Amino acid sequence: TERTLILVKPDGVERGLTGEILRRAETKGYRIAELKQLRASTEQLAAHYAEHEGKPFYQPLVDFMLSGPVVAAILEGDRVIEGFRSLAGTTEPTTAAPGTIRGDLGRDWGEKVQKNLVHGSDSVESAEREIGIWFG
Ligand code: GTP
Ligand code: MG
Repeated sequence: TERTLILVKPDGVERGLTGEILRRAETKGYRIAELKQLRASTEQLAAHYAEHEGKPFYQPLVDFMLSGPVVAAILEGDRVIEGFRSLAGTTEPTTAAPGTIRGDLGRDWGEKVQKNLVHGSDSVESAEREIGIWFG
């Protein structure tokens, strides 16, 4: 079995989609091992998005993630890292496939502020690192 770190981003929480997003993960068969709502700190976001530092969307992304509460969860299951990213869909919601979280529920994507509802770790190494950031 494997673990991944997911975040319902501020747009997802604000739109009341937390339950829908978690339902999709649970219906797929993943187990919620940990779950909490919190306001992210700048330190958590600097660590979480370190790979994007210096890119043009970095600061708008951090500001967006600070704009409201997020829901953090640890999901468990066989190949859950790949499986949750498949449920989430590709990065840009306008073109994400229908059937995915971003494709079904998302639309807003700007030059600066990107609202794509969820984050999911992209590798075993990222998952363990990100679980440390959000669940200490
Ligand atoms: P996460 O699950 O949130 O990590 O999304 P991802 O893995 O699909 O995307 P990535 O890790 O490449 O980027 C992290 C976040 O930065 C994305 O979810 C977007 O919110 C934002 N982002 C990524 N690429 C771009 C871009 O080219 N332009 C803009 N404006 N935002 C971007
Ligand atoms: Mg990513």
